[in-house]
Amino acid sequence: MAEHIGIVGAGYVGLTSAACFARLGYQVTCVDTDESKVDALGRGEVPIAEPGLPELVAQGLADGTLVFTTAQAELHGTDVVFLCLPTPPDGEGRPDLGVLEQVLPQLGRILRPGCVLVTKSTVPVGTAARVPRLLGRGDLPVVSNPEFLREGHSVEDFLHPDRVVIGTDPPAAPSAHRVEKLYEPTGAPVVRTDTASAELAKYASNAFLAVKLSYVNVLAELCERFGADVGEVARTMGLDARIGPEFLVPGPGWGGSCLPKDTSALLHAADAAGVDFGILRDAVRVNARQRARAVRTVREAVTGSPSGSLAGTRIGLLGLAFKAGTGDLRDSPALAIAIALARHGAELTAHDPAVEAVPELDAVQVVDDPYLVAKDAAALVVLTEWPEFRDLDWARLAAATARPVVVDTRNLLHPEMLANAGFTHFGVGRPHPEATPFG
Ligand code: UDX
Repeated sequence: MAEHIGIVGAGYVGLTSAACFARLGYQVTCVDTDESKVDALGRGEVPIAEPGLPELVAQGLADGTLVFTTAQAELHGTDVVFLCLPTPPDGEGRPDLGVLEQVLPQLGRILRPGCVLVTKSTVPVGTAARVPRLLGRGDLPVVSNPEFLREGHSVEDFLHPDRVVIGTDPPAAPSAHRVEKLYEPTGAPVVRTDTASAELAKYASNAFLAVKLSYVNVLAELCERFGADVGEVARTMGLDARIGPEFLVPGPGWGGSCLPKDTSALLHAADAAGVDFGILRDAVRVNARQRARAVRTVREAVTGSPSGSLAGTRIGLLGLAFKAGTGDLRDSPALAIAIALARHGAELTAHDPAVEAVPELDAVQVVDDPYLVAKDAAALVVLTEWPEFRDLDWARLAAATARPVVVDTRNLLHPEMLANAGFTHFGVGRPHPEATPFG
């Protein structure tokens, strides 16, 4: 008989996993303590914007293969339980395992013998080894199975993963085989390893992406000085199969709910282990600089000087989310740049297709008409790479501005299109035009 799967936590990872496992043909019970969330999910209302997820939830509910509940005791009937609990950074950037430490003793009293416990949320290396002690029993096999889901692509990433990592001690444990079987319908390559390697592999992947992005962001700065084009440099690098073309687009810096949190956690873990992970520390430092550089470029574009004053200047922002395809503002470079511009006295109007308001920032007026951001603006700043920004009527935007200047921190827009629409254009990793003071 197919395994009955339990999921603890109906957040972004837990909900995606629950709906996708149901899609793969398993019976799934998903537990969350938030009553209103569980009620809403039971009605098929999905609180996160993930393409394909509402359909999978609706199907699972209709088939009876997906059940949402607040009753943890229902996990007694399950064979494999996935922990998908939040591990947010504490004040110093270390993962806070408070929720996990609270839930595991409860599960220890509920799960039946033979049940496999799987850690899916990102946890520090060594956590799987601590689980039996936290559970209060040593008879349940523990498996580390980190997730690699991208926001906005979580369903696709779950059903068609690049790899599935399964860590057990020892790697050949029967529980590893049981979890591996669950993913068989995806056809993905499986890495069977020990728990510490599985846990580290997750941090190592995200930290590497962060290093790659900071590398290209520094290259962009060099290109601006040397009169080179970072797009051409990155294209050449990306054709080398050892480097690959992904994650080579410079921007306002990397953000979101994972990369900043995981780099910080890995740095703390390396420090505690007495290992100098200088290259990662530098990637984080460069990321702060990249955000500051974007602010300086806006000041240069508006005032003619990277340190010029923005006091009382109207600036239009296109994009607030940390990347396109999501309304997520967590550690968004776009938001950080908006906050910095507001601190410099700019009057900001912003449009983002997925953001209705920014409670953190009352200095920015969020509008749902992209053309309103251009009204009387001394510059338009592209902060998130929404493809639909390309299709705006840029001549109409130019006509609405006080002065047609674009700072494109994502190199989203075609320079020739912008020139034809009458814009002076400041990209990233390309030589900047001569800037003239506004007013
Ligand atoms: C990331 C990892 O990709 C995923 O595997 C992990 O499980 C969670 O963290 P996500 O946070 O959804 O996923 O964002 P991702 O698409 O990786 O982008 C991260 C940041 O890098 C964003 O701020 C994005 O704008 C930036 N980025 C990405 C660039 O600036 N240039 C690029 O070429 C790619």
